[in-house]
Amino acid sequence: MQYPYFNNMPRIIAHRGASGLAPENTLAAIDLAAKLGIRSVEIDVMITADNQCVICHDHNVRRCTNGEGKVRLKTLSEIKELDAGSWFSSEFKGEKIPTLSEAMKLIAEREMSVNLEIKPLDGWQVPTAEIVCAELKRLQSQLPPLLISSFNIESLQVVNKLLPDVPIGYLSDTLPHNWKERLSAVNAASLHMDCDFINRDIVNEVHEASIRLLTYTLNDPAKAKQFLGWGVDGIITDFPDRMSELS
Ligand code: G3P
Ligand code: MG
Repeated sequence: MQYPYFNNMPRIIAHRGASGLAPENTLAAIDLAAKLGIRSVEIDVMITADNQCVICHDHNVRRCTNGEGKVRLKTLSEIKELDAGSWFSSEFKGEKIPTLSEAMKLIAEREMSVNLEIKPLDGWQVPTAEIVCAELKRLQSQLPPLLISSFNIESLQVVNKLLPDVPIGYLSDTLPHNWKERLSAVNAASLHMDCDFINRDIVNEVHEASIRLLTYTLNDPAKAKQFLGWGVDGIITDFPDRMSELS
């Protein structure tokens, strides 16, 4: 199947936006990736107490905001009170945790594509994916080219059912012993692996199964160049500025 995300596949993907240079998963980090000439961003999505989709990596807001507590126990208006920029640098004071809708709008405006990673709480893998899919359907005409990934098979099975036209990336630190079964269970188009576990044989093995291989989180440009030489399809990096000659 031909998917818009993989047409003219971006080789360099800014992880959580340009998260080495701006506060992760904020509009500022997405915007900076665009300014650096990057054509795709990876961002994380989870749900709030009032079932709104927000862009955030950790289940607790402590590390990346001036607040404390679980995203799932806060309403969207409580989430919007938080400063998600100052922890990174005073330059980003007042930056907010974006909604999925706000992030998608900016990414589309900047003519980028997006790898959206679903981050469910344990026990909420299915409802989280259902809520994210419903929001994506609502935004349909405004969406940039999209690739949805997750470490969680249950979430990805929901995506496969509700958004059959969107490609799925299966996230795994290592190459699972039964990776072909896992990928076929979610109809995955790509496998996204921790860069420490990739070698040339794995690249070939995955490609022989007609699956694309992306890797995270690779911040060393020399290693990225080597990986691209082996045929790795996408490098997810915190420092897209270091990879400009590779994109
Ligand atoms: O999607 C690649 C990477 O973001 C997966 O790990 O923890 O950074 O979301 P994490
Ligand atoms: Mg992620």
